[in-house]
Amino acid sequence: MSFRHKNLLGIEPLHPEEIRTILDLSDRYVDLNRGTQKHSDVLSGLTQINMFFENSTRTQASFELAGKRLGADVMNMAMQASSIKKGETLIDTALTLNAMHPDLLVVRHPHSGAVNLLAEKVNCAVLNAGDGRHEHPTQALLDALTIRRAKGRIHRLTIAICGDIAHSRVARSNILLLGKMENRVRVIGPPTLMPAGMADFGVEIFDDMAEGLRDADVVMMLRLQRERMDGGFIPSQREYYHRFGLDAQKLAHARDDAIVMHPGPMNRGVEIDGTIADDINRSVIQEQVEMGVAVRMAAMDLLARNLRAVPEGVMV
Ligand code: NCD
Repeated sequence: MSFRHKNLLGIEPLHPEEIRTILDLSDRYVDLNRGTQKHSDVLSGLTQINMFFENSTRTQASFELAGKRLGADVMNMAMQASSIKKGETLIDTALTLNAMHPDLLVVRHPHSGAVNLLAEKVNCAVLNAGDGRHEHPTQALLDALTIRRAKGRIHRLTIAICGDIAHSRVARSNILLLGKMENRVRVIGPPTLMPAGMADFGVEIFDDMAEGLRDADVVMMLRLQRERMDGGFIPSQREYYHRFGLDAQKLAHARDDAIVMHPGPMNRGVEIDGTIADDINRSVIQEQVEMGVAVRMAAMDLLARNLRAVPEGVMV
């Protein structure tokens, strides 16, 4: 198995072979999770601390479950009630926790780059659970696993990522991963929600759903990330749904066997029609949640092996 990293901060530093290693191990954890005996002891004796400075349902729950199933001692910091509210800096909080000797630190933060900064200050392995609009590596990995299991491969597919690309760390990590695995990636959205420099990522850019979805194998919808918008990016929700919301009519432009994805939380009637989201023949949204637990187990397992195997300071 090849995976030589101390932290999982983003998709950017990963080699395609390392991505395959994580996905292969995740497949094994899917089997474990589907059984009635869901325990393993690969993280036994290790301490995992989850620090979420931003709201989360799926990601926090699945990191917690992943750690518990692998036998770690898991602690969820209630960041709303923490000393950050009393003016303590992120770095001081990190150093305080570091002094308690955690082995795995799972961090979500509203600022891009905050998790990388924190990783420089602590000795343990750090997993990025989403930083601003920068990266969300475990989301891209669970999306890749979902696609690979549905389509039988994770290369040479046409994948359309649609909606609020500008504010989305999910889009960024997915574009990086899917590009590394040699897929054809399209991004579709209004020009106001398309970041500058998108073309440098090797993607095709569309502002029309019918054109962008043509013959797509995978249709990935994104939430309008209003918490990261500081002005009017769209004329109205109604207009947005009309032009960019995924309904049966627009989906008909994709391949007949195209799958529909969404990282959640989903806004029905804004970016996606509820009937499509619930259509078990098209939507793999629940599978994405299932794969999320397995991918986080695999990622923490691999990082823990490296923690145990290599003396401090040797790995990148
Ligand atoms: C995403 C996130 O937080 O970046 N959600 C998730 O992790 N499942 C996307 C979003 O908030 O829209």
